[in-house]
Amino acid sequence: MLAVHLVSFFFTKLQEDPTKKVDRFLHAMRLHDDQLNDISARFQAEMKKGLSAESNAAAAVKMLPTHVRSTPDGSEKGQFMALDFGGSKFKVLQVKVREGMGIRKGGVEMDEKTYRIPKELLTGRGTELFDHVTESLKDFLHERNISLEKKHPLAFTFSFPCEQTALNRGLLLSWSKNFRARGLQGKDVVQVLRDSIDRTGGMDMEVLAMVNDTVATMMTCGFDDQYCQAGLIIGTGTNACYMEELRHVDLVEGDEGRMCVNTEWGAFGDDGALDDFITEFDRDVDAASNNPGKQIFEKMISGMYLGELVRLVVLKMAKVGKLFDGRVSDALRTKGKITTAHVAAMEEYKNGLKNTRTILEELDLSPSDDDCIAVQHISTIVSFRSSNLVAAGLAAILTRIKHNRNRRALRITVGVDGTVYKTHPQYPKRLHKVVRRLLPDCHVRFALSDSGSSKGAALVTAVAQRLASRKRQVDETLSSFKLSQEQLQLVKARMRAGLEAGLKSKGPSAIKMLPSFVYHTPDGTENGKYLALDLGGTNFRAMLVNFKKSLQQNVRLYHKIYTIPLEIMQGTGEELFDHLAQCIGDFLDYMGMKNARLPAGFTFSFPCEQTAIDTGTLVSWTKGFKATNCEGHDVVSMLREAIKRRNEFELDIAAVVNDTVGTMMSCAYEDPQCEIGLIAGTGTNVCYMEEVKNIEKTELQKGKPEKFKGTPDGEQDEVEELSQGAAEMLKMCVNTEWGGLGDDGSLDDIITPYDTEVDQNSVNPGKQRFEKLTSGMYLGEIVRQVLLDLTRGGLLFRGHVTETLKTPGIFQTKYLSQIESDRLALLQVRSILQQLGLNSNCDDSIIVKEVCGAVSRRAAQLCGAGMAAVVDKIRENRGLDHLNITVGVDGALYKLHPHFSGVLQKTTKALAPRCDVTFLPSEEGSGKGAALITAVARKKKEI
Ligand code: BG6
Ligand code: BG6
Ligand code: GLC
Ligand code: GLC
Repeated sequence: MLAVHLVSFFFTKLQEDPTKKVDRFLHAMRLHDDQLNDISARFQAEMKKGLSAESNAAAAVKMLPTHVRSTPDGSEKGQFMALDFGGSKFKVLQVKVREGMGIRKGGVEMDEKTYRIPKELLTGRGTELFDHVTESLKDFLHERNISLEKKHPLAFTFSFPCEQTALNRGLLLSWSKNFRARGLQGKDVVQVLRDSIDRTGGMDMEVLAMVNDTVATMMTCGFDDQYCQAGLIIGTGTNACYMEELRHVDLVEGDEGRMCVNTEWGAFGDDGALDDFITEFDRDVDAASNNPGKQIFEKMISGMYLGELVRLVVLKMAKVGKLFDGRVSDALRTKGKITTAHVAAMEEYKNGLKNTRTILEELDLSPSDDDCIAVQHISTIVSFRSSNLVAAGLAAILTRIKHNRNRRALRITVGVDGTVYKTHPQYPKRLHKVVRRLLPDCHVRFALSDSGSSKGAALVTAVAQRLASRKRQVDETLSSFKLSQEQLQLVKARMRAGLEAGLKSKGPSAIKMLPSFVYHTPDGTENGKYLALDLGGTNFRAMLVNFKKSLQQNVRLYHKIYTIPLEIMQGTGEELFDHLAQCIGDFLDYMGMKNARLPAGFTFSFPCEQTAIDTGTLVSWTKGFKATNCEGHDVVSMLREAIKRRNEFELDIAAVVNDTVGTMMSCAYEDPQCEIGLIAGTGTNVCYMEEVKNIEKTELQKGKPEKFKGTPDGEQDEVEELSQGAAEMLKMCVNTEWGGLGDDGSLDDIITPYDTEVDQNSVNPGKQRFEKLTSGMYLGEIVRQVLLDLTRGGLLFRGHVTETLKTPGIFQTKYLSQIESDRLALLQVRSILQQLGLNSNCDDSIIVKEVCGAVSRRAAQLCGAGMAAVVDKIRENRGLDHLNITVGVDGALYKLHPHFSGVLQKTTKALAPRCDVTFLPSEEGSGKGAALITAVARKKKEI
């Protein structure tokens, strides 16, 4: 009976089809299409997660932006050194690319050498590993007689996950495959390579681009096939990249066009997303790997692990008696004894079984024929699963591309590389078949990159080189706007000298230093209703100000804004003042106060020679004004005459003040430390409280009483009796008119040809040189001149100089402010430029933003240097070691520009370290200040 049983046992054992036995054993590895579609859907979800800024940090699949924005277009050219690092071979290459020719037409020539990486370096110090790389590079240069003197652009294929912020900057996120060198994680690998090149010495290399092998593969294949929009590696590791719409790549600014995304799909499953597909063999492979818990998908697919998976299955089946009659050898127990090359050999079409036997025998096993069939089948199941998983991942990517492009059908080429794909006899066919089955609507071509990834890396580098050379030229153009600390110190010194000269000189001086006849900042006792008229900024304003005596802070304001048409600004003086009278009449009508004969203060934001608070002779027009017959005339009289001509209402014009003075007074009402007024608007100017004794060009300092007409309340009587000491303490606000700095040539060393052009095209050439470098009316024009130059040089707008770009005045301060706003995406910059009639692409927008930044930064720094001169002068006037002071500020540039005020303050601080300067923006413009001055002047008159 026992014999019968034994016979039947052996009989059934012999009868059992060895492949069926394996099929049953590896049931979990045989994935049918539903499961593949399920995996594909999961991977699509992972891709979304990785692309979104919100979920990226937690995503297993990192979807890394590569900063490669286009596939080859045939315009790439040049000669490059290349390093190919991270696959099964480390290579140094020289790649020559000829413009306009695909690889097949011989457009690329390559010379390469493979260098061995000693095993201990894989897990040693990172710097040593990189030193080996650069030593190999140097050896190659020597061997091939490549010039060591010349600077060589270098393309770096680095096949590990890197977080790239630019083409030539990428932090290594983690090692994968068999690399584990210490001290590189989180470091910029490009910088590590540069440092190593420096350490090795004797070479001049410019590392222009670092690319993942998937990206390089896509680019290599893209040189011959414009449909190539994805790259796939099935080698030591596995990974894929593809061209994603930039609007979906949250981690990179900009919404226009595409960018290649390195999916790093090897990490799919690291968060458990594939747990239900993972077998005990996968778990064992993972546990024994360099990086347990990481690269789960890769470990089911790639060359580094396939042989190991087969070995573990064979071992297990032998152990449970399903192979080799239950016998196991030491070799079979040893990690790494079955390799991917073995797997490929076992699946060879004709010799597969024979190969299997040889391989097993080399493992000290004595396989039967059935054992060989079974082991070959194990190999097939493991490698089939691998290609199925790749097909599922690829299906997800291609489906995404199809949706992105809103296509029902998609024609696409996938560039492929890697030892598994290239050496496994069945792999490509199986993969292609399953992909096409999973994606019936896609016409997918697979292009083998049979010459490695370096061609592609060189193509990326060629584009980077073009961009870098463009950037260099743009930087060079903008370098004339960059001022060193020394230059700013010089500007401060020149401003200081200008202020001193202006205080002394009776004749014309670059900085006019005009006495304002304002002796005090407000004391809060001002009261009553006043009309404030404000001419000289962007608009003309009429305003009613009501100070209430009891409640000091209770100021009420009503105002109306009137634009001044260009033809009035530049017509006759009579027309201009008639226009003002008309606006005032309109305002009084609007307020119902035509018969009130209000006391009025006139903010007139141009340089006026004053002999009293209520007279002011216009020295010269500035900014856009050039009305005739005004210069040399008293503007108060001109306004009075215009009002008389109108004969509708009467006004008592009690004071004329510059906008800086009005602004200082208005802010001083809030903060008694405010003794400086600054305007950074259409024009620029500063006033400050100066010691009367220093205003040498007038008789004021001699304390002659008649010169004090218009001093604040009660002052006149006291002045008559002032002791010499008290008279020396007396201060008066001086309107510096600092915009004139440089009119004597003192700024010629920092003035650029663009500034000269702007000056020449202005209504007052040669005048207000400082103002023309720093104020809102001119910054946009400087920007326009630079853009014109860059466009003519082919660096912008594809070299097209349009009529719009030739139009003066297109860039107002508000546009500069918007363009420079940090919150604005490049797409919005582009839409602003489009509104202005400038058709820009993403790179153009970046350059325009840079130009605006350079011009406005210089403006703010120059104002800061000027302010440092003013505050240090005040400090020294008062013999103080340290000065605390407030500056009242107004003007659209200060208030609207995102960076101007910050740079101004920083520069002031750096250049006047012994002063603490607080900048206080004026709330209601200079009108309130003018009204305050009027209140004092009126009181004076009444006495
Ligand atoms: C090569 C590339 O062709 O393919 C390598 O040049 C890349 O950079 C490799 O890593 C992938 O294959 P393997 O099998 O060498 O890892
Ligand atoms: C306003 C003043 O508040 O600021 C004006 O009242 C002054 O007189 C102006 O000229 C400066 O700003 P902008 O930007 O209008 O020149
Ligand atoms: C690993 C790396 C990846 C690379 C792939 C193929 O997965 O992490 O960057 O592309 O191997 O070499
Ligand atoms: C111009 C004027 C000046 C004014 C400044 C700001 O520089 O000459 O008086 O203060 O612009 O508006």
